[in-house]
Amino acid sequence: MNDYIYKRYRYYFFLIFILSKKGATVVEKIVEILSKESYTQEDLSYLIGLEGSDRDFYLKEIGKSYINTLGKKVYFRGLIEFSNYCTKDCYYCGIRKSNTHTERYDIDDEAILEAAVFAHQNRYGSLVLQSGERNDKPFTDRITRLLKEIKTVTNGELGITISLGEQSEEIYREWFEAGAHRYLLRIETSNEDLYYKIHPRDEAHDFHRRLECLRTLKKVGYQTGTGVMIGLPFQTYEQLAADLLFFQRIDVDMIGMGPFIEHTETPLYQYKDQLWPLQRRFEVAINMIATLRLLLPDINIAAATALQAIDPMGREKALRYGANVIMPNITPTLHRKDYQLYENKPCTDEGADECANCLSIRVEMAGREIGYNEWGDSQHFFKRTSSKQ
Ligand code: 5AD
Ligand code: FES
Repeated sequence: MNDYIYKRYRYYFFLIFILSKKGATVVEKIVEILSKESYTQEDLSYLIGLEGSDRDFYLKEIGKSYINTLGKKVYFRGLIEFSNYCTKDCYYCGIRKSNTHTERYDIDDEAILEAAVFAHQNRYGSLVLQSGERNDKPFTDRITRLLKEIKTVTNGELGITISLGEQSEEIYREWFEAGAHRYLLRIETSNEDLYYKIHPRDEAHDFHRRLECLRTLKKVGYQTGTGVMIGLPFQTYEQLAADLLFFQRIDVDMIGMGPFIEHTETPLYQYKDQLWPLQRRFEVAINMIATLRLLLPDINIAAATALQAIDPMGREKALRYGANVIMPNITPTLHRKDYQLYENKPCTDEGADECANCLSIRVEMAGREIGYNEWGDSQHFFKRTSSKQ
């Protein structure tokens, strides 16, 4: 047992002792769970559901212990949402193909490259390329070309993450070889029944195919990220706890997860009166991030933009309690308002410069340091790949 872990256990045993004198039951239970070496679904769902002052106590404990192990660094990924054309029809998403009220756009290559150069010059370290899902050859060829060009114009110094949905192994490989080294594909929920309540049950939205894609991404060699939405209609704390155990089981490197926010032009809007209040969705999302950090101390966790749609300080709170990645939006402003997966999306008016300034101040206010010019790869990825050699 290393010195830090020994001190941590000694601290928790001391706390348990003090609390048993006071008979403080909820806090006592939190401390008891925190002192364990592995966690059951019941433990995790208990932590995810915490409220009020018990929740405050829990978050503080996580905040303290994770800064000690992972350090203060936060990594920037400049996010370019370059197109909202999408061939899929997820029931929650504002850019689903059946939403005829969205104005569709596709940013040209030159503007994408300019945004990449902006990220590089501003020492972001990495970039995320995201769009609606397309599988046609002109699209996949264009991505391959763009990846190579981004590498060229940034002297190979900019790390590239892509988030372009379900593709064949061949395409995943082609993009990997062209320069992308991290891939984000959220599972959205690891519960198959719930998955089909939020997606059409058809070939284009197959739960098992999505799982297969996650396996393929790891096999190809990507640092692989997934995630879920929190506060979906019908979702329970137990299912969210199972999501965390799912992340552990599939051995992911990165997670992005945030609150579900209903969009008027989508089928899930009909359940708006059955959802947890927005503020509660936000709280549970922060509890999920903290509990994930407890479970998987060395992965990268992103502070999702959707947090900020509910609480103006949402992403900074996520950084306090477990997140270590933040994605400043560098999509040319003209189109930002059209990439509305959910309504009330923040930072749709600011230009990339303002966005970067406002974020660096916010990160420092949260007591963290920015890892400028660093790729900020997931420590977990290196551990899992080096242990296989
Ligand atoms: N609320 C919150 N998150 C959403 N996403 C899509 N629609 C919504 C919504 N209404 C998330 C999904 C997707 C990611 C790009 O955005 O998890 O994977
Ligand atoms: Fe585009 Fe879900 S609606 S991927």
